[in-house]
Amino acid sequence: MIGAIWAQGHDRAIGVDGTIPWHVPEDFAFFKKTTLGHPVIMGRTTWESLNPRYRPLPGRRNIVVTTNTHYDAPGAHIVSGISEAIQEALTHDRVAWVIGGERLYRSALPFVDIIAVTFLDVSIAGADAFAPEIPHAWRCTAQNPECGWHTSSTGVRYRFSVYVRPGFDAPGII
Ligand SMILES: NC(=O)c1ccc[n+]([C@@H]2O[C@H](COP(=O)([O-])OP(=O)(O)OC[C@H]3O[C@@H](n4cnc5c(N)ncnc54)[C@H](OP(=O)(O)O)[C@@H]3O)[C@@H](O)[C@H]2O)c1
Repeated sequence: MIGAIWAQGHDRAIGVDGTIPWHVPEDFAFFKKTTLGHPVIMGRTTWESLNPRYRPLPGRRNIVVTTNTHYDAPGAHIVSGISEAIQEALTHDRVAWVIGGERLYRSALPFVDIIAVTFLDVSIAGADAFAPEIPHAWRCTAQNPECGWHTSSTGVRYRFSVYVRPGFDAPGII
């Protein structure tokens, strides 16, 4: 199973100037709980946006996609495209997560079975990275008991949703 996971503000905004423009610890916790133990696939820009103290993301095989075959990402596995990334991930696990950013989500979408989205009730001025539109045919499951609006300790309203590709059935993955 290939999953994609992201958090988006209004208008599908996911980033500004190479960073994530909010602080929602509950979403970090959800991200960690969901991806821990599984390979994570990310674009080179997202890798560079991680705090060097926390990369590679611990407890996960970090796979970085870049066209630069000489790129040095200590602790991560470098691949040159999304197909290679998926192949690499699935030789180690039956589940892998695509964790961003915009360019990687777009190229990964045809391969993705499930999308975990955190909707944030925030407008992001100057957003320059956006999540792809989720195809209408995908169904939003309400299996996750954490569905529904919550308010973060930082004051941001947020809601978790899970979308599943038509015909894909994987109960219990999230
Ligand atoms: N809100 C969220 O949940 C979330 C999650 C992750 C990231 N973000 C944000 O998203 C923004 C980054 O997004 P982005 O689109 O600029 O960058 P990105 O997708 O993280 O990385 C783009 C780079 O990755 C490589 N790449 C991506 N797809 C590729 C493909 N299919 N084949 C070969 N190489 C590929 C290329 O590297 P080379 O140029 O080296 O060839 C490309 O320039 C940041 O603001 C980040 O904070 C938000």
